[in-house]
Amino acid sequence: MKKLMNPSIEQDVYGISAWPDTDQIYARLQALLKQPPRTIRRDKMAEVLQHFETRCQRSKALARRAGEVIPGGVQHNLAFNYPFALAVERCEGAHMWDVDGNAYIDFLQAGGPTLLGSNYAPVREKVHALLDACGPVTGMFHEYEVKLAELIRQHMPAVEMFRMLGSGTEGVMGAIRLARAYTDRKWVIKVGGAYHGWSDQMVYGMRLPGTGRREAVGIPGGATHYTQECFPNDLAALRRKLWLNRLRGGTAAVIVEPLGPESGTRPAHKDYNAGVRALCDEFGALLIFDEVVSGFRVGMGGAQGYFKVRPDLTVFGKCLTGGYLMAGGVGGRRDVMMLLAGGIGTTSKRAFVGGTLSANPLSCAAGYHAISEMARTQAPVLAGRAGDRLCRGLNEIIDRLGLPYVAYNQGSVVHLQTSAVLLMSTRNPIQLMREVNARKHMMEEMGAAYMAHGLVTLAGSRLYTSMADTDAVIDEALNRFESVLSLV
Ligand SMILES: Cc1ncc(COP(=O)(O)O)c(C=O)c1O
Repeated sequence: MKKLMNPSIEQDVYGISAWPDTDQIYARLQALLKQPPRTIRRDKMAEVLQHFETRCQRSKALARRAGEVIPGGVQHNLAFNYPFALAVERCEGAHMWDVDGNAYIDFLQAGGPTLLGSNYAPVREKVHALLDACGPVTGMFHEYEVKLAELIRQHMPAVEMFRMLGSGTEGVMGAIRLARAYTDRKWVIKVGGAYHGWSDQMVYGMRLPGTGRREAVGIPGGATHYTQECFPNDLAALRRKLWLNRLRGGTAAVIVEPLGPESGTRPAHKDYNAGVRALCDEFGALLIFDEVVSGFRVGMGGAQGYFKVRPDLTVFGKCLTGGYLMAGGVGGRRDVMMLLAGGIGTTSKRAFVGGTLSANPLSCAAGYHAISEMARTQAPVLAGRAGDRLCRGLNEIIDRLGLPYVAYNQGSVVHLQTSAVLLMSTRNPIQLMREVNARKHMMEEMGAAYMAHGLVTLAGSRLYTSMADTDAVIDEALNRFESVLSLV
């Protein structure tokens, strides 16, 4: 087994300067939830909506057309903006421009992948060269597949072998199938509120812990029968589930987002992942780290390097290809991963995964060069510093304006909770029933107000920073955030 990376450089390769004080964050979030939603003043919100009417007419026309042919008008929730989706024409580094010529500071960063900044030229040039040479796909083996797998193994402490797939969702499907094949067990435990993609078995306990099958529309009960959820940070509950499962065939895997559910929206206690590792060892379950968000973003060794916890399997996505297509894969222990072997070295027992475009040369070339550039430039550290500066500035503004909002960050993953809708709890069902829609709408309004001030966020509550976020970019963004928060 490989060792953790050289300890003398470990501090440098991680972008989280300090793990947030989770107890204090939860206390502040609870205080925020106790207050009625503090929304933008109605006259000011009318001005925000007017902005879109007058300044975003081409987007509006496109959104109207899209509504006729694309269900909901967008292909992914990330692209939905209230009051309508904005069509983007150009991106570079920390900025993007819409089809009406409006410029934005981009804290969506494609939902996380573009840690190097959008449309990063050195990677784009390599991808162009690859396309010139063989096109995006050949169906045959390509040198870049090996180079990418070797590079991932070099950086990720718990990855001995790697299999490229098409998306984070596919990576999770592959990891769970592997865990079941390896252990000959069926139960899989996730943390309530975590997002692990949209496969049948994982649309369970999504967004809000304790919601079980609430979002499992179109998914038969059998598909989620062996999926269970535990409340975040509750190791005692996890132990109980593992113990009970032992009596009925055993747990194949525990899967976690190591930063905490929803990319750390509910932050994990610093020692939570180590606690899960110990429980998995005790009960013989495999530990799966879903590093779709944290992989390379929090550091070249991912969350596993940062927390010094070795999962059995790791799921990759997003930063894996620096924003290029087909970003997904699974890596981990050689003895487990070998159950994927096809062709030469096939064992009698094989877990079936893969697709026509898995491991296409384009994705592998993009991944190899993006990860190489992240390591060369120390992008996780630079993006993490930008996240720290942004979060510090947001908290100063919140304090200065006397608002109850809560900002915290795990390096380049910055959370700005104004409505705290994602922090609501099924343990308080009356508040949930009464307030969830109003708080959801407030989050949409905040997102719209940020956008009207030239700030793109993820759903109005999360901000991904990138290497392109210089101090000047962050300071300009903070001026704009202050303008928005002054409208409350
Ligand atoms: C933690 C986590 N796992 C899995 C996924 C699914 O990845 P993909 O959207 O590439 O299918 C996501 C996507 O946001 C994610 O955040």
